[in-house]
Amino acid sequence: MTETTHRGCPVAHTDFTGTAPLYEHYKMLDNDREQARFLFNDTTDRGFFMLQRYDDVRDGFQQHDTWTTAVRSALRPNTASDPLLPQDLNGQEHVKLRRILNQFFAPAAVRRMEPMAQQRCIELIEELKPAGSCDFVAEFAIRYPTDMFLALLGLPVSDGEQFLEWSDEYFSALLAGDPAGATTAKASIMNYFDEAVNERRANPRDPKEDMVTRLVQARIDDVPLTQDEILTICLTLMLAGLDTTRSALGFIYTHLAQHDADRQAIIDDPTLIPKAVEEFLRLYPLVFQAGREVQEPQEFNGVELEKGDVVWLGIAQANRDPRKFDNPDEFDVNRPNVNQHIAFGGGPHRCLGMHLARLELKIVLEEWHKRIPEYRITPGTELRERGVQLSMAALPLEWEV
Ligand code: HEM
Repeated sequence: MTETTHRGCPVAHTDFTGTAPLYEHYKMLDNDREQARFLFNDTTDRGFFMLQRYDDVRDGFQQHDTWTTAVRSALRPNTASDPLLPQDLNGQEHVKLRRILNQFFAPAAVRRMEPMAQQRCIELIEELKPAGSCDFVAEFAIRYPTDMFLALLGLPVSDGEQFLEWSDEYFSALLAGDPAGATTAKASIMNYFDEAVNERRANPRDPKEDMVTRLVQARIDDVPLTQDEILTICLTLMLAGLDTTRSALGFIYTHLAQHDADRQAIIDDPTLIPKAVEEFLRLYPLVFQAGREVQEPQEFNGVELEKGDVVWLGIAQANRDPRKFDNPDEFDVNRPNVNQHIAFGGGPHRCLGMHLARLELKIVLEEWHKRIPEYRITPGTELRERGVQLSMAALPLEWEV
């Protein structure tokens, strides 16, 4: 495409899919946001209209009557990727399935997991502590949410190591664009879920407490969920919950290792941690965009959209928009409007697991700093991030023992 504007929007060519030095994507995102209110990015075959400023992104999440998740990521608009539930549903179908799932992710349900989540977190930290160093991403930041995921499904945490091997293989194959590798790893995971679901069919537990039993017994308009749908829900929770939490922890610990005053503040006053978690989510959003596909021609804040257009909802650009947040590049635990960040999206598809994610991050910050208050990034480390959905391949940390 050689045009300089597309339906009135300046055309941008920024590629958000590569690997880059840490924080580079935020620079590119901030830069695009300040160029124009709306851009048309032509780096994918369908291109996408970029909503970048806080008010526009927030409004965009509310256009769910006509913008659907037929495209989930503006950067991967055509991937015939695995079906996901509830993401792929829209309208009333989506509402009905969310109603079934929400009860396990509501604040009260998540609070019930707290003692177990805390105990598991302490065990993992105690295991790592004597070594005086670790790759925080590989040895902790993925291990902990994996165990929490199994616990959420009512599966034994002792399967964590095996499960992690499969999910690692799966994520790596997906990232490397290796469909054969992804299919093999996925088959092991689906087989594991299949056995777990069959076990609950044979031995149901209390559906108020046990998510798999509830899914097995649930009816939507009098029709039970199929085995395939239940397995897809399990896979979706894995895909949506593990990598995101791992990446959030990676970015948070990079920050804390490099900002002694911020680290000291939460050590001195751990009651600041819930607010610090929100500010970290605002400052380092890893799901930096969500995609939508326009289903009917419409005008959106001056842009003429047509059926089939792809829209980019710029989550990170909104969270770092100086029109909304003063000094947006700074970590400020006392920021008055921090709770208005949109790291978990908005509208009906807002993150199902957000309360669980918050709980996990809070517990890790509390328990880690009680045991390992001083740590640093291993000198000489070159920190890098992967695009599409931000993640760090490694974060080597060391501390005195
Ligand atoms: C820091 C961690 C996390 C972040 C930043 C995050 C972010 C997001 C965002 C931005 C969306 C909305 C996507 C869209 O509108 O298209 C979303 C959706 C979702 N998230 Fe999360 N997430 C996190 C953790 C989790 C966890 C722990 C789980 C579950 C175990 C989870 C499950 C989901 C599901 C199922 C959806 C789809 C909801 C729907 O379509 O109705 N997420 N997440």
